[in-house]
Amino acid sequence: MTDAGAPQPIELARPEIGPREEELVLEVLRSGRLSLGPIGARFERELAAWLGVEDAVAASSGTAALHLGVRQLGWGRGDEVVTSPFSFVASANCLLYEGARPVFCDVDPVTLNLDPEAAAAAVGERTAGVLPVHIFGYPAAMPELERLAGGRGLGILEDACEALGAVDSEGRRVGARGNLATFAFYANKQMTTGEGGMIVPADPDTAARLRSERNQGRAVDMGWLDHDRLGYNYRLSDVAAAVGVAQVEKLDDLLGRRAAVAALYSERLAELEGVELPIAGRGREVRSWFVYVVRLPDEVDRDTTITRLAARGVASKAYLPCIHLFPHLRELGYREGQFPVAEAAAARSLALPFYPSLGEAEVDRVCAELAAAIRSGR
Ligand SMILES: Cc1ncc(COP(=O)(O)O)c(C=O)c1O
Repeated sequence: MTDAGAPQPIELARPEIGPREEELVLEVLRSGRLSLGPIGARFERELAAWLGVEDAVAASSGTAALHLGVRQLGWGRGDEVVTSPFSFVASANCLLYEGARPVFCDVDPVTLNLDPEAAAAAVGERTAGVLPVHIFGYPAAMPELERLAGGRGLGILEDACEALGAVDSEGRRVGARGNLATFAFYANKQMTTGEGGMIVPADPDTAARLRSERNQGRAVDMGWLDHDRLGYNYRLSDVAAAVGVAQVEKLDDLLGRRAAVAALYSERLAELEGVELPIAGRGREVRSWFVYVVRLPDEVDRDTTITRLAARGVASKAYLPCIHLFPHLRELGYREGQFPVAEAAAARSLALPFYPSLGEAEVDRVCAELAAAIRSGR
């Protein structure tokens, strides 16, 4: 309790930054190489090794990584890309940057990821690719989506920005299937660089082109002012990469502790009537815990629940809104009622405080406050 007697606030997310991050950042600051120095390449190598892939290309954000992926696949004006409406807006915006049209289809009610049958039904003459999102760290149905794409010659870009460490139905780590796949390192993610992202290339030529485009179109062996293609400044700074190296070193520990907090929530909330809990896995699928999102009973008003929790010092958030209903996507003709599973999930979902250092007493308090808020909201 604080002095005023109000309960200590419990925030939604909190990065875990320690002495190792400080040490590596200080080394970079003292080295005088703040960008394009050796630690950027080291971060890429170490994350690639952790993922079990040949190479990985760092970028300034997950969104930048997605944009590079869209350009790599050549998706642009006149192309349609089948994707999920239940996502963070960047997975659709990256298509709009290049003039491609996101074609949404509904999601699976359990995983909240692209429903492969709905995806197949959304494929048409103009379809150039599929952009699955591994939402809330749950692996998308990649074997099914790859079959769909393979049969029609479609490109695949996996948005794994929320799913570092997830394992798919064939036991493979998300991002390691040979498709272009992106990760993101904003401060609430499984690991952070403050801001940052990564894209896993399919082969060395792709990697070289991605490295060029993120660096103003310069070829790897070219001088500072030679540019052989359109490029961007999507570089990750060496200060951020230093944080990344330290985070990769403890990634297994971070993921393990996130899973432990999630297990605690699931145990404590199991008896809460009408509340739907996220699954940890199914068969060989394993969620990488990014957020802990419950679905409230229909009769409970979510906004009132959020207000009641906030009054008791517990942060929570409506998470996520459907992206096809944002104004710039409505302009493409999208409306309420088109994707009932996604829209129902978006209407009821509530993210609870979630980070590795969240203690058992805090989880208990969140659960007790949630139960009380739901009781009084019924
Ligand atoms: C599913 C998804 N895609 C893309 C992004 C974009 O990542 P960033 O915020 O690093 O640009 C995020 C991050 O929040 C995300 O959750």
